[in-house]
Amino acid sequence: MPKSNNRKNEHVSLSEKFYDGQVSSFKDISFVHHSFPEMDVADVDLSVSLEGLDFSVPFFINAMTGGSEWTGKVNEKLAIIARETGLAMATGSVSAALKDPEQEKSFKIVRKVNPDGLVFANLGAGHGLENAKKVVDMLDADAFQIHINAPQEIVMPEGDREFKGWLDNIESIVNGLDVPVIAKEVGFGMSRETIRSLEAIGVKLIDISGQGGTNFAQIENFRRKDFKLDDLEEWGQTTAVSLLESGDSIVSAQVIASGGIRRPMEMVKALSLGASLNGLSSQFMHMALKDVDQAIETISQWKTELAHIMTLLGAKTVSDLRKTDVIISGKTAEWCNARNIS
Ligand code: FNR
Repeated sequence: MPKSNNRKNEHVSLSEKFYDGQVSSFKDISFVHHSFPEMDVADVDLSVSLEGLDFSVPFFINAMTGGSEWTGKVNEKLAIIARETGLAMATGSVSAALKDPEQEKSFKIVRKVNPDGLVFANLGAGHGLENAKKVVDMLDADAFQIHINAPQEIVMPEGDREFKGWLDNIESIVNGLDVPVIAKEVGFGMSRETIRSLEAIGVKLIDISGQGGTNFAQIENFRRKDFKLDDLEEWGQTTAVSLLESGDSIVSAQVIASGGIRRPMEMVKALSLGASLNGLSSQFMHMALKDVDQAIETISQWKTELAHIMTLLGAKTVSDLRKTDVIISGKTAEWCNARNIS
């Protein structure tokens, strides 16, 4: 990996550096095994449809990168994986290309490599409708992700310190953009109050992106040169907790799970807690940087593994997974108790 002061390069390098330290929140979730599935593996349908977007499998490559020469190459690898496996893919925040058109190619490569795939563009919640339209056009994107990342900005040495108007920005984007909008966290999770605020302004797709995977407080803390904000590395809700919070509050929106999801069992657990789709970031980064061909092979195995687990659970479709019997233990159970989530 190159030595560089560029923040985009550092985010990728540091997500790799901290990859082994991630602790999944799904260890607190167990399935009750019942002995009669009463279905065949061939009966499983892995496809899901959200707001007119059709996914052949219930997982995709979630937002990560672009904005420098090296991350453009990383995006190219991710886009090859997406094309060869039929996965949807989000780019990282396209704001770097709005500031410096020279950086556009590091994002556009995703569409160039995969002209027919599902591609999502991404910007932070400080941006308004005009910029959202620009980046959707730039990538001919099928959907737009708006990321909500106050804790990351606070810990980031050069981050934003002004957070007024984010909900207004999101509302104008939801009302004015003609592609589906996904409001997403970046690994700090969501509360039912946040989810209600998003639903109230018309958001239909919510990625609760919780703790348990990439930790941007840790990444930005590492980048700080003055003083460290160690206590904020624990900030936020886990992915399992955020899904349970959403299950308790959601009315009409659909939930996407992300944050520390790495394997089919975790995907199935997230779907059983009410998610409709799983976004994986650091896991795909790890795989893409190692070996693209191996990543393609592994993803094909995951599709089989998903069908096997779903069969054991008697679930023919992704939405059937919500009817499975799940035991919640440990800190996740304590949280549900404290927040009266049944
Ligand atoms: C991210 N993530 C992210 N999210 C976003 O909405 N816009 C962005 O630009 C980025 N950039 C970014 C860079 C890198 C290197 C990583 C690993 C992640 C956050 C990502 O989409 C996701 O919400 C979290 O990483 C949690 O998922 P994982 O990594 O635990 O699977």
